[in-house]
Amino acid sequence: MARKKFIAGNWKMNTTLDEARALAKGLVEACGKITDVDVAVCPPYTNLQAVGEIIKGSSIKLGAQDVHWEAKGAYTGKISCAMLKSVGVTYVIIGHSEQRTYFHETDETVNKKAKAVLAADLRPIICVGETLAERKAGRLTVVAERQVKGAFAGISEADALKCTIAYEPVWAIGTGEVATPQQANEAHQFIRKVIVSVYNNAAAEGIRIQYGGSMKPDNVKDLLALSDVDGGLIGGAALKVQDFLGIIKPV
Ligand code: PGA
Repeated sequence: MARKKFIAGNWKMNTTLDEARALAKGLVEACGKITDVDVAVCPPYTNLQAVGEIIKGSSIKLGAQDVHWEAKGAYTGKISCAMLKSVGVTYVIIGHSEQRTYFHETDETVNKKAKAVLAADLRPIICVGETLAERKAGRLTVVAERQVKGAFAGISEADALKCTIAYEPVWAIGTGEVATPQQANEAHQFIRKVIVSVYNNAAAEGIRIQYGGSMKPDNVKDLLALSDVDGGLIGGAALKVQDFLGIIKPV
């Protein structure tokens, strides 16, 4: 079964309301009719509703950058799945390395969030990836296996097939240092093996694995040509229409 490529823009903590509106309008004009690849944008919470209104009717889907697993209550500063759904969100990024590094995200909280997102009929984009120190110590496979198994613990095969995994080597995020095609494909193939061990071949063949980490128009072709790379999670290059388009177009 051929997996449809999926390119998602992670705007991180960028864009005021006006900037987000301008970027979303530019994207709708540039790539709002593209259907041979799935496209999503993940603005900050404050801009979800406005961006959602602008991309409505286009092929671009709305994503959020995080969520809390609880349904409601006294969790100051947090946002629930129902809140995200109410403003038209489809995808939710979970376990981004910046969340893991700065905001105490663990494999356990990633798992709780993934379950909450799936229960709300939203689609998780689960981020995994090793730090430079872990790679240098030869721990890529140990880390990736722990993160993938942790994220999918207790999740049914049917729900797992609704998830996307984003392999994002931490040393390549926002650094300009991109994984070589060989490094990326090896990691993706390893992650697929882990999925086989948790579920089966069909699940491993069905779940899309994006690459993330300094993906740009000038390196996208080589990365997306790889057998096991099913798209990208794009940070810096998602903030300019031409750059994002330059990543979507070669797909
Ligand atoms: P980058 O970020 O493209 O700026 O490296 C990717 C990500 O963190 O999702």
